[in-house]
Amino acid sequence: MILIDGKKTAGEIREELKKEIFQIKKENKKVPGLSVILIGDLAPSQIYVRMKEKAAIEVGLKSQIIKYPNDVEEKTVLDKINELNKNDNVSGILVQLPLPNHINKQKVIESISPLKDVDGFHPFNVGNLSSGNESIVPCTPLGCYLLIKKYEKNLSGKKAVIIGRSNLNGKPMTQLLLKENCTVTITHSKTKDLKRECLSADILVAAVGIPKLVKGDWIKKDSVVIDVGINKTDQGIVGDVDFEEVSKTAKAVTPVPGGVGPMTIACLLKNTIKCFKIVNF
Ligand code: GUN
Repeated sequence: MILIDGKKTAGEIREELKKEIFQIKKENKKVPGLSVILIGDLAPSQIYVRMKEKAAIEVGLKSQIIKYPNDVEEKTVLDKINELNKNDNVSGILVQLPLPNHINKQKVIESISPLKDVDGFHPFNVGNLSSGNESIVPCTPLGCYLLIKKYEKNLSGKKAVIIGRSNLNGKPMTQLLLKENCTVTITHSKTKDLKRECLSADILVAAVGIPKLVKGDWIKKDSVVIDVGINKTDQGIVGDVDFEEVSKTAKAVTPVPGGVGPMTIACLLKNTIKCFKIVNF
């Protein structure tokens, strides 16, 4: 079994980006900048945002975290996004999710300029991705895709099964694999006989948020298994895949932690530079 080392691949991407940013600074006398808006005091969101900032600074991007209390008015957030949209020093804008209930998530997402939408959540980017056009691709599925491509060079005709239909992961993952000519099945909580679906997968992506849902006897021999889950349990952080069991049958599996997580952050940095280039080149 191959352990898909997301931490190592993400490190390689970050090294490449560091060189690219150095070059951009030299030639353009400008530094790409990432602005992250954090609302409320949810511990995981605070941790993720801090990790994003640290990674951004480490590759040489400018980084700014804008914090608001949980009860901030929606208008205050929308006004700030509008200001960031107009600011030439800001290449990418990310609003950390989830948001408090009184804030309309879709309204916030749609207020971000599609050209600065480093999350790829704006309908403009979602539409372009599903039409097979150039677009900003959401960071987590993009990270998964890059890992899959590393271990499965020819995806054409392969059967891919995705567990989870979220806008953040499942749906964009489907589009990326369809573009590679995979036959994609997207499964969810109402799917009948999930085990049977998984057993048909050459590529299995679990992004559902249920600890160790995917068992060893759900896995086709020599498949590639990508675990997007980050679940807090009494045994610590575990994925959506029972790694011990699944690693006995699969060809390659991502660990949790150290698999998809670091790739998400590397892809956020990648998207920030992509947004910078869209506007400046
Ligand atoms: N919360 C969990 N994952 C994400 C993500 O990829 N982007 C944003 N903005 N919030 C998140």
